[in-house]
Amino acid sequence: MFHLIHSQLTGKTKFAMQNILVTGGCGFIGSEFIRQQLALDDGSTIINLDKLTYAGNLENLVNVADHPRYVFHRGDIADRECVETLMNRYAIEAVVNFAAESHVDRSLLDSAPFVKTNVVGTQVLLDAARTADVSRFLQVSTDEVYGSLGATGYFVEETPLAPNSPYSASKAAADMLVRSYHHSFGFPAIITRCSNNYGPYQFPEKLLPLFISNLLADIAVPIYGTGLNVRDWIHVSDHCRGIDAALRHGTPGEVYLFGGRTEKTNIEITHLLLKLLTKPESLMRHVVDRLGHDNRYAVDCSKSERELGWRPRVTFEQGLLETIQWYRENQSWMASVKSGDYLEYYSRQYQSAKPVTH
Ligand code: NAD
Ligand code: DAU
Repeated sequence: MFHLIHSQLTGKTKFAMQNILVTGGCGFIGSEFIRQQLALDDGSTIINLDKLTYAGNLENLVNVADHPRYVFHRGDIADRECVETLMNRYAIEAVVNFAAESHVDRSLLDSAPFVKTNVVGTQVLLDAARTADVSRFLQVSTDEVYGSLGATGYFVEETPLAPNSPYSASKAAADMLVRSYHHSFGFPAIITRCSNNYGPYQFPEKLLPLFISNLLADIAVPIYGTGLNVRDWIHVSDHCRGIDAALRHGTPGEVYLFGGRTEKTNIEITHLLLKLLTKPESLMRHVVDRLGHDNRYAVDCSKSERELGWRPRVTFEQGLLETIQWYRENQSWMASVKSGDYLEYYSRQYQSAKPVTH
């Protein structure tokens, strides 16, 4: 089942798994993970299970769609029959669960799909993976389960969970289920929690792609509240290298944090984008704040550095420049994802957003 091989990503010898079920692989982070895995020579076959919600896009994987070690299956992680069939058909040895409803603002409009996919979907996957006796189950989680920080301090693995939005509450619930399966059944599960990702192929409802896309079209950018909220930014490729390291070298039952050690306020990010895109400050628009808006996220990822030999490699300056360049060069990708659902959501979320002045 396992093969010892040399990892191109971490430079270490590691266990290679033959068949990995990746869920949500057509989204922003899952598609980067699949591209990275298929670029390795360790022979793992990736079975990508994705429902293709508004956030899932087959175009994100168009360059690897015909790869001999890649299989796509459209389906729902909450569909027990579908998940069990895939586990058996492909003799799955490891699961990496990216599939989720992932946007805080949408969870404030309607939390039902968040509970269905993030909680029930995870529970269905856990049961099927346990029956299939997989060697590893990696739950891709978020630093948002810890809630909000004040001006100082960092999230560490043991920080008590205190989720503030329906999105983060559903992710915390899923994490608790994963934890319980390890505790009760000795199920070989690992949880990773990461800070805010940026990079290519991110759906333009999140801060960076939304602001880049608006500014490229000379449309004002909606800054929630004061814009002084802080996020810790990490390039998506660094996050996915971390997930690979945790999958291969992590200890079942453990939690690993990833972050970029790059704290920025939303206002700082906006000024940087205006400068890099040579756009005027008149395109900044303060709008009514997000409900329950978390003040600050910042991650202490020293455990992952120490135990997994992982380090973030991409500096924010370089990563942001490349990300802007990617969106400039891929405006047809952007146009295609700004479909009916996106336009409907945008108008619901922002047309009624009242401008405020400070
Ligand atoms: P995304 O919204 O871009 O992609 C989610 C993917 O999951 C889509 O392809 C979608 O079609 C699929 N999906 C949704 N419901 C499904 C279901 N029921 N069955 C099968 N597939 C389904 O999300 P993302 O930003 O790539 O995030 C991926 C994971 O990483 C999520 O679990 C998220 O909580 C976590 N995470 C995200 C960030 C971030 O900054 N984006 C940071 C930390 C953790
Ligand atoms: O920390 C990890 C989390 O990061 C992930 O778990 C989530 O899936 C991911 O969406 C992200 O959550 P955030 O809520 O931090 O990301 P978002 O891009 O929605 O917002 C980032 C900051 O920008 C936040 O302070 C809110 C602000 N913002 C966002 C949008 C969309 C605005 O000011 N205006 C906006 O229009």
